[in-house]
Amino acid sequence: MNMQHLLSVDQFDRDRVEALFAVARAAEPVARRRKVCRALEGAVLGNLFFEASTRTRISFAAAFCRLGGAVCDTTGFTFSSMAKGESIHDTSRVISGYVDALVVRHPERGSAAQFAQATCIPVINGGDGPGEHPSQALLDLYTIEREFERVGREVDGAHVALIGDLKYGRTVHSLLKLLSLYRGMRFTLIAPPGLEMPAELCAVVARRGHRIDVRTTLRQPLEQLDVAYATRIQRERITDEAIDGYTPEFRVDKAFVDTCCGPRTVLMHPLPRDSAPGANDLGTDLDTDPRTAIFRQSDSGVAVRMAIFATLLGVDQKLLGPLPDAGWRSPERIGPDDAPFYTLAAASRGFGAD
Ligand code: ASP
Ligand code: CP
Repeated sequence: MNMQHLLSVDQFDRDRVEALFAVARAAEPVARRRKVCRALEGAVLGNLFFEASTRTRISFAAAFCRLGGAVCDTTGFTFSSMAKGESIHDTSRVISGYVDALVVRHPERGSAAQFAQATCIPVINGGDGPGEHPSQALLDLYTIEREFERVGREVDGAHVALIGDLKYGRTVHSLLKLLSLYRGMRFTLIAPPGLEMPAELCAVVARRGHRIDVRTTLRQPLEQLDVAYATRIQRERITDEAIDGYTPEFRVDKAFVDTCCGPRTVLMHPLPRDSAPGANDLGTDLDTDPRTAIFRQSDSGVAVRMAIFATLLGVDQKLLGPLPDAGWRSPERIGPDDAPFYTLAAASRGFGAD
């Protein structure tokens, strides 16, 4: 895959997605701590996060380390010389003299592209304000494929509901475009009034011939969903707009799932979610429901981000060959409520499950 930076899902067609996912599958035994890879030994990542992050920052760092590289990071503006007025251009050019790749999260739309303009090393968009979050959408699609595979179905023709703040939620911007690369999709977009999906993104999807149904309430009956993807309201991006329509009916909970979802519906969320009692977000009452894929989704971040690095830095072939075993003990499952850790990877790649 000849790609210098990862800035937007617009860089992908289906072949590119499948090529990346083949590398991600090969990376799974390393991400799942069964195998060891040193393909990026000696390389250094600059992990620059000017906005809050748990998953993206740590999983990109873990992915780089699991490929044998090392990570230097900076978090927030306070501890960067941007606090002294340094430009994106100068920051990017200077740090590129120290590291081999950059991951950037920044509150302005288009900021990752500005970092990329100032450097010849790969830049990965880890979230540019309300713009895009391409690596999240890739891991979301990877998760959907894996969840569907378990029940023997394909992404083509799926009915996907995107729920919540679709105006400022960058994960859904990227995911909607990425899913529209598939055939015969049906999207139900459910957002409070004022927080609807931007019209230009709906237009892209409609041009590709998919069916879109736009709603401002969760209370209307829905035809059975294949994927229900809930999102958090992006309060940090909403300044003076009213968000009165964001009422408790936007809570994606057991009552919603019982009416709109079938036994094979996949329940997703990019996280973080608001877990406070009564929050209008994905309810914790669904955590033990086997259809809830949120932690399998966040776990997939490591393999998919390893694939992104391996591809951009030209070492993807090294992941596809035989790899040595990991020499330390790791648990059978990640969380106490999870299915055994290795089952999925073992099934598709022939690696021994414990
Ligand atoms: N973590 C995701 C993002 O940074 C989603 C969210 O924060 O709601 O876009
Ligand atoms: N999903 C996601 O991007 O999470 P963080 O904001 O914690 O990185």
